[in-house]
Amino acid sequence: MNLTNKVAIITGASRGIGRAIAIDLAARGASVIVNYNSSEAAANEVVSVITAAGGKATAFKADVSKIDQSQALIKAATDTYGKLDILVNNAGTTRDNLLMMMPEADWDHIMNTDLKSVFNCCKAATKVMMRARYGRIINITSVVGLSGQGGQTNYAAAKAGVIGLTKSLAKELGGRNITVNCVAPGYIPTDLTNVLSDELKQGMMKLTPLGRFGKPEEVAYASAFLASDEAAFITGVVLSVDGGLVMQG
Ligand SMILES: NC(=O)c1ccc[n+]([C@@H]2O[C@H](COP(=O)([O-])OP(=O)(O)OC[C@H]3O[C@@H](n4cnc5c(N)ncnc54)[C@H](OP(=O)(O)O)[C@@H]3O)[C@@H](O)[C@H]2O)c1
Repeated sequence: MNLTNKVAIITGASRGIGRAIAIDLAARGASVIVNYNSSEAAANEVVSVITAAGGKATAFKADVSKIDQSQALIKAATDTYGKLDILVNNAGTTRDNLLMMMPEADWDHIMNTDLKSVFNCCKAATKVMMRARYGRIINITSVVGLSGQGGQTNYAAAKAGVIGLTKSLAKELGGRNITVNCVAPGYIPTDLTNVLSDELKQGMMKLTPLGRFGKPEEVAYASAFLASDEAAFITGVVLSVDGGLVMQG
């Protein structure tokens, strides 16, 4: 998949899966905006890795749970590189708890960070993409948005919401040559999942037919495919990258 002359924004690209997506899209020729919220040094390191390999990248701070900062992020792409072809909504976090113990603030935080952020960035990006009559939007959901997960009602609801948003927006934008798809990772070792107990991790591995955890790069390859011209006739799908953990029928 060649992405030469494409311009991409990856939200939450300072660490984990977003970092891998930014590095992979840049290696395929895209100019990338490496969005971060708090990890400035890590974002700058991602930019260094990309530029050292001959790619083009710029770090941009924006809290994508806020609409004004999301608008500024989209503008950064058009100001810096002249256009926006690819938006990867990857930024996300967790605040796990049983529902009866969950503070309202933790529900709101996850809705804002994991779901409203996708609304914010899509809303700003579609204006640019509709004018260009071209766009690729990839929303990183999760297998728990498909299957549910005890202790993660907020996160699973937000991620299921991302799937509903994706399918609806795919219907709205199909006529403008803009595709909107989801990638649903299974268990991928990152800062997000490293806090889980060994017992839970081993249980997850046992339920994974391929018998191992995924790598951030493997989520990046699926995202690169959906961002490519080769995927031009694919919209509104949820592509699981989970070793078979959650099979959709
Ligand atoms: N790891 C998994 O097993 C797994 C499985 C399914 C789905 N996912 C999804 O994949 C995505 C990436 O997860 P990860 O495992 O790579 O997580 P991670 O290692 O914790 O990285 C999260 C990234 O999101 C950014 N971020 C968080 N809040 C933000 C905000 N308000 N504005 C902008 N950026 C923000 C962080 O940036 P700063 O550090 O700069 O704040 C960081 O770059 C998430 O949407 C997650 O739900 C992960």
